[in-house]
Amino acid sequence: MHTLNPDRDETGEDLTIAKFSSRIADEQDRTASHRLDPVDIRPITAADLEAVETLYLQVFANTFRPAFGRRPLETQVQIHLALRQARDRPTEGILAAWEDDQLVGVNLWKTAETGAVLLADSLRALAPLGPLGILRFLLVHLTVYIRYKPAAEEAYLCGPAIAPTHRGRGIGLALMQQTEHAVREAGKTYISALVASNNLAFRGLVQKLGYREVWIRKTPVRNWVFGESEIVRIEKPLKVN
Ligand SMILES: CC(C)(COP(=O)(O)OP(=O)(O)OC[C@H]1O[C@@H](n2cnc3c(N)ncnc32)[C@H](O)[C@@H]1OP(=O)(O)O)[C@@H](O)C(=O)NCCC(=O)NCCS
Repeated sequence: MHTLNPDRDETGEDLTIAKFSSRIADEQDRTASHRLDPVDIRPITAADLEAVETLYLQVFANTFRPAFGRRPLETQVQIHLALRQARDRPTEGILAAWEDDQLVGVNLWKTAETGAVLLADSLRALAPLGPLGILRFLLVHLTVYIRYKPAAEEAYLCGPAIAPTHRGRGIGLALMQQTEHAVREAGKTYISALVASNNLAFRGLVQKLGYREVWIRKTPVRNWVFGESEIVRIEKPLKVN
């Protein structure tokens, strides 16, 4: 399931906070003129999952509305959490940016190894929606959202999502750089995403990082549901160290 445009609005090295922070500073010097206040970027733990799902659902509220209707954020978070916990390795493929103890950004990606959720587990996770709510959720997932299966060498992005209060500070760029690093270390040779053509912020960000726009396609169903008339596929080969 994928989110392309929100509300109009992972070395042989350890993935330690200190290394991430210093690497962010180095790469910041090379690629941007942003001021990046101390933000720690690190893989998440199981204890972080609820905060991650909350930020993701807040940032992509428009995208998830068709599936959830007007149900409270809390319900949506509990359902996403249950679906994620039903996977083999729920925390894999997620990096988070923290300022003090506040989660300010996340990036998520899928690979061919990312565990799928079994139908029986999904239905259990969706139970709070009731029968009609479950039907709606499944229908929207099957018809509106993009179900993408990454190739063996590929990492497919399902983010990033930066808290609206923390945008424009270089956090998205830093998260993307650390994601590329983690993905490369996991043995993947390229990274990809689908982005709504009207998401100029993310297109600008990835252009800066050297991504190539591979194709652009009309998306009538998503246009009707979200006002996203086209999607753009972006890709970047990752240098093998
Ligand atoms: C897109 C997003 C991740 C950018 O995060 P951010 O932390 O604000 O971005 P940064 O501060 O790191 O900006 C890095 C570069 O991205 C580009 N950029 C960021 N915001 C931009 C905007 N509003 N308009 C145009 N370009 C923008 C710029 O090139 C910027 O470099 P510059 O400031 O030197 O010009 C953030 O706006 C976001 O979370 N949006 C909603 C979720 C989303 O769309 N995710 C992508 C889904 S496919």
